[in-house]
Amino acid sequence: MKVSCSVVVFALVFHFFLVTGSRSPPPSDSVIIIGAGMSGIMAAKTLEEAGYKDYIILEADSRIGGRVHKGQVDGNTVEMGANWLFSGGPKSSPAHEIAKKIKLRTLYSDYGNLSSNIYKQGGGLYEKHVVESAFKVADARQEFGTNLSKILSSKKGGDDDISILGSQRLFKQVPKGPLDLAVDYFYNDFEEAEPTRISSLKNTFPRQLMEDFGEDSYFVADPRGFETVVHYIANQFLSHNNNKITDPRLQLKKTVRKINQSKNKVIITTEDGSVYHANYVIVTVSVGVLQSDLIGFVPRLPLWKKLAINNFDMAIYTKIFMKFPYKFWPTGPGTEFLLYAHETRGYFTIWQHLENELPGENMIFVTVTDEESRRIEQQSEKKTKAEIMQVLKKMFGNGKQIPEPDTMLIPKWWSNRLYKGSYSNWPNGYTLHSYHDLQQPFGRIYFAGEHTNSTYLGYVDGAYFSGINTANALIKCLKHFCEGRRS
Ligand SMILES: Cc1cc2nc3c(=O)[nH]c(=O)nc-3n(C[C@H](O)[C@H](O)[C@H](O)COP(=O)(O)OP(=O)(O)OC[C@H]3O[C@@H](n4cnc5c(N)ncnc54)[C@H](O)[C@@H]3O)c2cc1C
Ligand SMILES: *[C@@H]1O[C@H](CO)[C@@H](O)[C@H](O)[C@H]1NC(C)=O
Ligand SMILES: *[C@@H]1O[C@H](CO)[C@@H](O)[C@H](O)[C@H]1NC(C)=O
Ligand SMILES: *[C@@H]1O[C@H](CO)[C@@H](O)[C@H](O)[C@H]1NC(C)=O
Ligand SMILES: *[C@@H]1O[C@H](CO)[C@@H](O)[C@H](O)[C@H]1NC(C)=O
Repeated sequence: MKVSCSVVVFALVFHFFLVTGSRSPPPSDSVIIIGAGMSGIMAAKTLEEAGYKDYIILEADSRIGGRVHKGQVDGNTVEMGANWLFSGGPKSSPAHEIAKKIKLRTLYSDYGNLSSNIYKQGGGLYEKHVVESAFKVADARQEFGTNLSKILSSKKGGDDDISILGSQRLFKQVPKGPLDLAVDYFYNDFEEAEPTRISSLKNTFPRQLMEDFGEDSYFVADPRGFETVVHYIANQFLSHNNNKITDPRLQLKKTVRKINQSKNKVIITTEDGSVYHANYVIVTVSVGVLQSDLIGFVPRLPLWKKLAINNFDMAIYTKIFMKFPYKFWPTGPGTEFLLYAHETRGYFTIWQHLENELPGENMIFVTVTDEESRRIEQQSEKKTKAEIMQVLKKMFGNGKQIPEPDTMLIPKWWSNRLYKGSYSNWPNGYTLHSYHDLQQPFGRIYFAGEHTNSTYLGYVDGAYFSGINTANALIKCLKHFCEGRRS
């Protein structure tokens, strides 16, 4: 049974290669999926389960999982990309459900004691009651914003929108001063990875993912990595051996550089010169990659599609992991999350120690976003280390010597041409009409990926659903009705 099955699979793929450069027509329902992240794997699974087995997945990297990607710091696994799963809401997060099934180790993130753990720019902790009143103001701002967002989302609001910062102005509560800036950064940028002056209020609040799946966040801390969730799904329908995918329909290290569509087929060229023919293609690369020139479209994408792609935002979120020879930060209960308040918004603001996840490893990480991420990706690691050491000295030095880290890991999502950032964000001014254009197929080219599911935009669950929904739209097309505009 197993043997005959893979023979069929092999024959299918053989067919893909056979048509290369020959005159024979492409198989009638063949699909090429570009990208093997969560969305690409879900698109393939959806096709497979609907009986469309004539597909191939082209992935540029040497692995599947995309932005769900573990890294190593001196033999300790950390998550360079996606890290948190959510629960506690009326619906359940598919990514979290799978994580539970495979017993992925997760730890509840408790922010409850943050008010006792905010450090002043020059050192020393803010008094708890001072922070608590800053939190009260931030809560009121958020409530006002959520109320306003509901009005804007009603039919009467039409295309009207405002930035999160704009709504704070309207509320006469614009954050200023190190503490207020740090708190505002924690409330907003820590989730959207872009400044409040950029993010659309209407499309950010209420945060639909948390409304649906819950606000309780669980931090993945498993040596197998969060990416095991993607592997688990892939293993359900791609042939594999000892946890290694052997299905020839998954082709790794294939960087797509050209998508050439004509009236009845699509021809795809990869960097190594391979040519693939199919009837349809599902592009799952990030909106950041679509904004770059990595993939050339022939004919060129129409203006409506280019505007939709280039007006959207790819945010950058960077976790800088460090391992020290010993600990010099507090590690008891209620100390996992720390903020550093600085007059520059987002200057090494959010800290999390990993004592619960990796006890005795003396590890901590700091999160930066947006312009700070860009700056750090472009400067030397030595310079970043020096900046961080200065901050740590202010926070924990107290006149004492503190050691330099033995190891640092700085993921570079923005520089990486296969990602060009961390996840998408809906900027103020971007209309629902543009968003439909972003999702829309163009002729035989369909689009999936985290950025095409605005309900759960920027999350693993968004990628998960986008793969299913786009594959279903394509299946509908294969069966009876195609929606792809042709110009
Ligand atoms: C730092 C960071 C933190 C995050 N934190 C969270 C979190 O806590 N919780 C959460 O739910 N989500 C989080 N996310 C978001 C989540 O990781 C993504 O939304 C999701 O993984 C995106 O999946 P995708 O399939 O849409 O895209 P991707 O994972 O980017 O998949 C696309 C694939 O296409 C490949 N590709 C690109 N160009 C080409 C080409 N030319 N040819 C062939 N292949 C190509 C890429 O290598 C990639 O594998 C985070 C992301 C990052 C980076
Ligand atoms: C938000 O709306 C609720 C319900 O209408 C109201 O009680 C509350 O005062 C509003 N909050 C703000 C900050 O405007
Ligand atoms: C695109 O494909 C057509 C055949 O469908 C071919 O004639 C044309 O030369 C190709 N163009 C490019 C730029 O690859
Ligand atoms: C809260 O944090 C402070 C400062 O780190 C710590 O001393 C205290 O024990 C923590 N309280 C609780 C309840 O965890
Ligand atoms: C995102 O996916 C969910 C689940 O399939 C769906 O209900 C929702 O409409 C999708 N959102 C968008 C904007 O397509």
